[in-house]
Amino acid sequence: MQTVHGIAELRAQVAAWKRAGERVALIPTMGNLHRGHLRLVERARQLASRTVASIFVNPTQFGPNEDFAGYPRTLADDGRQLGAVGLDLLFAPEVAAIYPRPLADMTQVSVPGLSQLLCGASRPIHFGGVATVVAKLFNLAQPDVAVFGEKDWQQLVIIRRMTADLDLPVEIIGVPTVREADGLAMSSRNGYLSAEERAIAPTLHAVLHAMAEQWRTGERDYGALENTAKARLAAAGFRPDYVEIRRADDLQRPEPGDAALRIFAAAWLGRARLIDNLAVI
Ligand code: PAJ
Repeated sequence: MQTVHGIAELRAQVAAWKRAGERVALIPTMGNLHRGHLRLVERARQLASRTVASIFVNPTQFGPNEDFAGYPRTLADDGRQLGAVGLDLLFAPEVAAIYPRPLADMTQVSVPGLSQLLCGASRPIHFGGVATVVAKLFNLAQPDVAVFGEKDWQQLVIIRRMTADLDLPVEIIGVPTVREADGLAMSSRNGYLSAEERAIAPTLHAVLHAMAEQWRTGERDYGALENTAKARLAAAGFRPDYVEIRRADDLQRPEPGDAALRIFAAAWLGRARLIDNLAVI
């Protein structure tokens, strides 16, 4: 596996592959990798002959009081893990390479509507930062296909919308959430949990699971289902942000007869903001 930090080196390698007729897959990440990220690389290797992962802790998707400064940066260990699963190229740029000017002076991508719901309600600048950096990474790496995790379902929906709206020639593939044995969705932010909080954390998934079961047995009062779930989370020690049943494809409130619904949740546990989502039907 080769690691490059510069844009010119990335472009040169990808251009050489393209000339040789290779198909390129991109896996964007912020590093501090776990088995969820590595699953994306494995999926990418099935979809393309060359795989490129990026590691970039993107400052523009963090709010002013969020964890940008303290976000774990573990590049050497990440590189070893990526090499072990057969990645071809790791792109790890500096902030100045991606944002040579203050963001206020740079072109940005916004995906209206979808970016204000769910996580966007409490993280108003987050998805604009995600859309902007992913659009730039697509232009830099020129992938034929890009792979994202369903753990961040709202992010996946927003990237699909951006790719369609801007006619970007990139196929977007989602990969199911990789979980710990006790159900907790793997996340770089799980490392923020104390031992006591780690023992509580799987309750988030358990509560969503119970809610989906209630739905399957005929409960249709969204408000009651959501309030019960939030009360259970609070009783377990979380500070719930939201629990909502939404349409899977466009994240809108369900109408009777809608086929694919998902439950979305975010809750604070100590200093970690955990998110999860689950199919209801
Ligand atoms: P990051 O949180 O590092 O996640 C990188 C990719 O890994 C995302 O597509 C995410 O959905 C996926 N992922 C994380 N945990 C997962 C799990 N348990 N199972 C399956 N996939 C999982 O998401 C970001 O970075 C950033 O917002 C980024 C897209 C890189 C833009 O900066």
